[in-house]
Amino acid sequence: MKLVLLGPPGAGKGTQSAAISARYNVPHISTGDILREAIKQGTELGKYAETFMSKGELVPDETIIGIVAERLKQPDAAKGFLFDGFPRTVAQAESLDKVLAESGNALDAVISLEVDEEEVVKRLSSRKVCADCGAISAAPADNNDKCKACGGKLYTRTDAQPDAIRTRLQVYRAQTEPLIAYYTNKGIIHPIQAEGTIEQVSDRISESLTA
Ligand code: AP5
Repeated sequence: MKLVLLGPPGAGKGTQSAAISARYNVPHISTGDILREAIKQGTELGKYAETFMSKGELVPDETIIGIVAERLKQPDAAKGFLFDGFPRTVAQAESLDKVLAESGNALDAVISLEVDEEEVVKRLSSRKVCADCGAISAAPADNNDKCKACGGKLYTRTDAQPDAIRTRLQVYRAQTEPLIAYYTNKGIIHPIQAEGTIEQVSDRISESLTA
C-alpha cells in the first residue's frame, strides 16, 4: 500500500501512523521526524531546516523533495509506505506523483484527518515527545515527565510556542489544504473525522480503507 496521511498540525498524524504502518506492513516515513533527527545530529541539513521549523514555516520544497527521493530508494519502501507530513504543497505532491510514475506506480489512498483548530491548539500545547524513542504523549504530568513506553526524558517541541503554532496553522491553510482538492480530483481521498478517542479515529481509518 502506498499511503499519505494528511492533516493540520496536531491532527494526530504521528499518533495514528504506528497502527496503520503495522497493519499494512509498510514503513512510516515522517519528514518532520527526519528533519528533527538531522537537527539532533547537528548536520548541515538540520541547521538549515531548524531556521524554518522553529518559526513554524515550511522547509523549502527542493530540500524536502530531495530527502524523500533518497528515502524512497531504500529497500523497505519498495513494498509501499505511509507518508506522514509529506506532501505539504502542491509542488511536493506533483513531484511525488512523478517519482512514483517513473516506476509505474501511484498512490493508493490519502487519509485526510479533519479536526477543529481549537482542538489542535489544545493538543499541541499539551503534547510532549520522548527524546529517546520518539513516542508521543498527551498527558505527561501524571508520570513525572518520563516516557510511558521506555522511561526516556520527555520534551516539548520548539515549534509548540503559541506564535509558531499560529504560523503552522496559517501555513497549513495556505499551502497544504489545497492538497485536499488535488487528491479529491484523483479520487483517492479518505476524509476521516479525527475527533474522539485515538481508538475511535483508528477504527474510522481502518473502516474507510477497507470499504
Ligand atoms: P511535522 O513533524 O510533520 O509536524 P506537523 O504536521 O505540524 O504535525 P504534528 O507532528 O505537530 O502533529 P500530528 O498531526 O502528528 O499530531 P500528533 O499525533 O503528534 O512537521 C514539523 C515541521 O517540519 C513543519 O512545521 C515544517 O517546518 C517541517 N516539515 C515537515 N515536513 C515538511 C514538508 N513535507 N515540507 C516542508 N516542511 C516540512 O498529536 C498531537 C497531540 O494530540 C499529541 O499529544 C497526541 O497525543 C494528541 N492526540 C492525537 N490524537 C488524539 C485524539 N484523538 N484525541 C486527543 N488527543 C489526541
